[in-house]
Amino acid sequence: MKHLVFLTGAGMSAESGISTFRDSNGLWEQYDVMEVASIEGWYRNPDLIQKFYNERRAQLNEVEPNEGHKMIASLEKSFKVTVVTQNVDDLHERAGSTQVIHLHGELTKACNESKTKVYEIGTKAIHPEDKAEDGSRLRPFIVWFGEAVPLIEKAAEVVSEADVVVIIGTSMQVYPAAGLIHYAKKDAPVYLIDPNPVDDSSFRVEIIKKKAGEGMAILLEKLI
Ligand code: APR
Repeated sequence: MKHLVFLTGAGMSAESGISTFRDSNGLWEQYDVMEVASIEGWYRNPDLIQKFYNERRAQLNEVEPNEGHKMIASLEKSFKVTVVTQNVDDLHERAGSTQVIHLHGELTKACNESKTKVYEIGTKAIHPEDKAEDGSRLRPFIVWFGEAVPLIEKAAEVVSEADVVVIIGTSMQVYPAAGLIHYAKKDAPVYLIDPNPVDDSSFRVEIIKKKAGEGMAILLEKLI
């Protein structure tokens, strides 16, 4: 059975109503990324970070997987499918995808400060007084700038085994996630679905200049 690997970013969830980061009016125009998404920011002002992630976690109650998420999940009927996502929402799973690697963590999980204990919290808020079992502050289970990306080796291995690689909705600006494409086999077709694709000629891609939903419909025609 062919192995399809999807590398998805914030654009994958845009049609579900979740803001991307670097588009106009994106999250990084509204917030200072180093204040709300970096380990330095956590030590400087943890309550601001908790508020930022409590708001994004609560939004999960108001959004649904879009057609793009559902089409990726539907491919599991005919292919082995692995999703390697930079997104921290749970929309791939809610659409039915069963193999999802979250490189940058998950909104529905919390952890202790050393990130050795992880807790499912769904869309509940984390309050300043909330503690983990070891007495440290409970924090979002998110990979912030300045932190390691523990799943990157596993993701690279998955990409190196892919028969087809599909990049959807990422500006390819954040490493190490953006470097994963270089692990693709030379003979594995690589597709890029994005209405404003990066024109980075450093790797070979077939560009489908569409939003995720429309782009996935075009891709399904090619794959099936
Ligand atoms: N369908 C597909 N792609 C879209 C859509 C859409 N409807 N709308 C926007 N896009 C594309 C944009 O053109 C852009 O290329 O999605 C991409 C979004 O890029 P970013 O906002 O940079 O998001 P992403 O690449 O996922 O960011 C990577 O940066 O801040 C960190 O940890 C954060 O995981 C995030 C990482």
